[in-house]
Parts: sequence; structure tokens; C-alpha cells
Amino acid sequence: MFNFDEKIDRQNTNSYKWDIAERHMGTEGVLGMWTADMDFRSPQPMLDAMAQRLKHGVIGYTIRSNNYYEIIQRWMSRRYGWDLKKEEIHVCPPGVIPAVCMLVDMLTKPGDPVFAFMPNYDSLYGAAESMGRRLVTAPLLCEEDTVTKCSSWKMNLPEFERLVKEENIKLAVFCSPHNPVGRVWTMEELEAFGKICRENGVFVISDEVHCDIVRPGAKHVPFGMVPGMENLSAVLMSPNKTFNVAGIMTASVFIKNPEIMAAFKKKLGNWAMTLDTTFGTIAVETLYSDPYCETWLDECNEYLTDNLEYAAEYINTNVPCVTTAVPEGTYLLWLDFSKTDLLGEELRRYLVQECKLDLCDGWEFDPECLDHMRLNCACTSATLKEALLRLEEGMEAYCQANSK
Ligand SMILES: Cc1ncc(COP(=O)(O)O)c(C=O)c1O
Repeated sequence: MFNFDEKIDRQNTNSYKWDIAERHMGTEGVLGMWTADMDFRSPQPMLDAMAQRLKHGVIGYTIRSNNYYEIIQRWMSRRYGWDLKKEEIHVCPPGVIPAVCMLVDMLTKPGDPVFAFMPNYDSLYGAAESMGRRLVTAPLLCEEDTVTKCSSWKMNLPEFERLVKEENIKLAVFCSPHNPVGRVWTMEELEAFGKICRENGVFVISDEVHCDIVRPGAKHVPFGMVPGMENLSAVLMSPNKTFNVAGIMTASVFIKNPEIMAAFKKKLGNWAMTLDTTFGTIAVETLYSDPYCETWLDECNEYLTDNLEYAAEYINTNVPCVTTAVPEGTYLLWLDFSKTDLLGEELRRYLVQECKLDLCDGWEFDPECLDHMRLNCACTSATLKEALLRLEEGMEAYCQANSK
């Protein structure tokens, strides 16, 4: 129904992904394949609802109607089987990460430890650091899975438990589905993680912004559904990644613990963030209720899966010295360049200047991941094919020159 192959030129639209000239190091014609948004137009019903509001012409302060909450309740129940009461749903207009910052501020004091698995989305673990907390980390463990072709990343739970006890950790930030490795955690894995949290009184801020972008067969479980974690978790979601509306800047906050919810609302008030955005409410209401939008999402997921499978196969077969795996969720490929000698700044420079590709630096997700890059595949298949060809040619030239 929807044409994801339509090429839309995003250059000169103040696009974060395409228009930051400094990232291109003076090189012309660089492809923007880094930050996590899609090059696709959002579903038409939402654009129409916004256009109608613009036609009305008055964009004053807005409220969230009962209808808004009911739409979110129905969406959560339909897609995840998670029943939420109205009072368990709130909003954080600037987005998921500001909500993380507020929760970190609310639940810990400066200098307190906050846990994160690494690698991890930089702004998520960075929220703990920017709030003056002490980041304590454990690595995700990687084992190659030849059957599913998903790299089978696992949480290092024994290490997590050891740190929780030794460092007296009471707060963890958690990424689910995981950016950048693309795992969609199973209920079993979440229960095992939750058990350690419960036994040690660790509250979990679960960043689930990628929850709606999953491969067939993978099933996202909201962390608040994990038995025993209802009162020890805050779940953050938004239509940002789902429908490509990052610029609208809104997020939903689901907190079942009434005291924590009350404190969160107070914190929003303290930070003068009690009002929502007009276009945020219009977007949420339309995207989560119009059947066309849900079909758009299903088709988008199919298109992204095709892109990711094609790209992973292409890279593993044709691009020397680079390996990757199809992620279970997200539209991001985590590329391993460890067979090269290129690291960090040198790797980025090579990819920009020799391959004309702007990818996300691995070290942003973990200072130790200097030999990884993240490739965003949420673009037309034509753009993706062009990017893969550039990567292949660039890496062939590198390997020849360096006898790899
Ligand atoms: C895991 C994760 N959380 C949060 C965000 C940003 O969300 P927001 O713009 O709502 O703060 C991103 C964006 O890439 C992300 O990947």
C-alpha cells in the first residue's frame, strides 16, 4: 500500500542525519546513515490531522483528552497485551531521554551508582553521567548464532548481580529492544534480570523507544509486565522511532507505582514541563488509533526486515574485513571492523572520506567499541544498495593496500 521506495531528498531541510556539514569533513556527496531516524514520510493520516490543525490556525496551549489516554490504553493492550490504568500513563513532551534524566534525578542523589549494560545508547547511559551519577557497567556478552543469524548477545547477569551487591546499586537504565546490538529480550531473560533487581531493590528505567520495530518472530515485552517488576520500573515509549516523528518530541511514561508516578509528575512541574505539544498530542492520537497507520507500521517493518537481511548478507559475503548480524529489533546494524587496523577517529575518517558514508561511531555506545560502527538501514533500498557498494569498494581498497 505504501511506497517506501520513494526517494525523498532530505538535504537542506535542517536534517540532523543529512545536514551537519562538519561531519562530512569537506567531502561532497556523503550518505547520511547514522542517527536513528528513517528517510520515509510518516503515515498520511497524521500529516492530514496536522494539516487540518494548521488550517484551523490557532495553536494555543493544549490538553490531553480522555480520548488520548484511551487511545494509548487500547494501543498498549492490542500490541503488547499490557493493561494500563489512566493514572499509570503520563507524558514527557521533550522525549524519552529527558524523562530518563528526570527519573535519575528523582530516584538517586549525585554520586550514587547507576547501572547500564554496555555497549548502550549513549544518551541513555549518558543521562546518568550528565546528572552527576556514577555509571557502573557490565558488558553484554556476544556469541555468534549461526542458525538465527542474529548475533546472540546476552546480559552478563552474574556480573550484574556482583556489581549490584558490591556497589549497592539501586537504579539501572535498560535498553529494550537494545540499541545498538538489536536484541529483543525474551520474557525469560527479562525475568532473570528482574529477579536480581527485585531481590536487591533495584529500580529499572526501561527505554523502549524501539519497541515497535521488530523482526517477524521477535516479541517485545514491556518491562512493567515482568512479574514482580510492576512497582520497580518506569517504561518509556514513544511514536518517535515507530512512525518516524522524532522532531515532534513527545514520549509516554508508564509507571505503575503510584508514589513514583506522583513524584514524577511533581518533578515535571518543578522543571516547568507540565504542558504537552499540540502536534505531539495530535500525532499520538492519530498514529495509535488510525488503522491505516498500523498497516503502515506493518509494511514498514517488512521493508526494514528486507533491508536488514539484504545488508547483513551483502556485508558478510562481499565486504572484506567487516562482519555483522541481522538484529531482532531496531533498524540498525552493528558493524564489526575488528579485522581491520582502523580505530575510532581514523575509522570514521576513512569511511567518510574514502567511502562517502556517515555512520555512527561505535565508541559513542561504549568507549571500548572503537572498532565498531552502526549503520542505519531505515532508508530506501536504493540508498542502502549504494551505501553497501561504497562500503565494499572502500574496504576492498583498504584490504588490498594493507594486505588484509
Ligand atoms: C534507545 C534510544 N532511546 C532514546 C532515543 C531518543 O529518544 P527521544 O528523542 O524521545 O529522547 C533514541 C534515539 O535514537 C534511542 O535509540
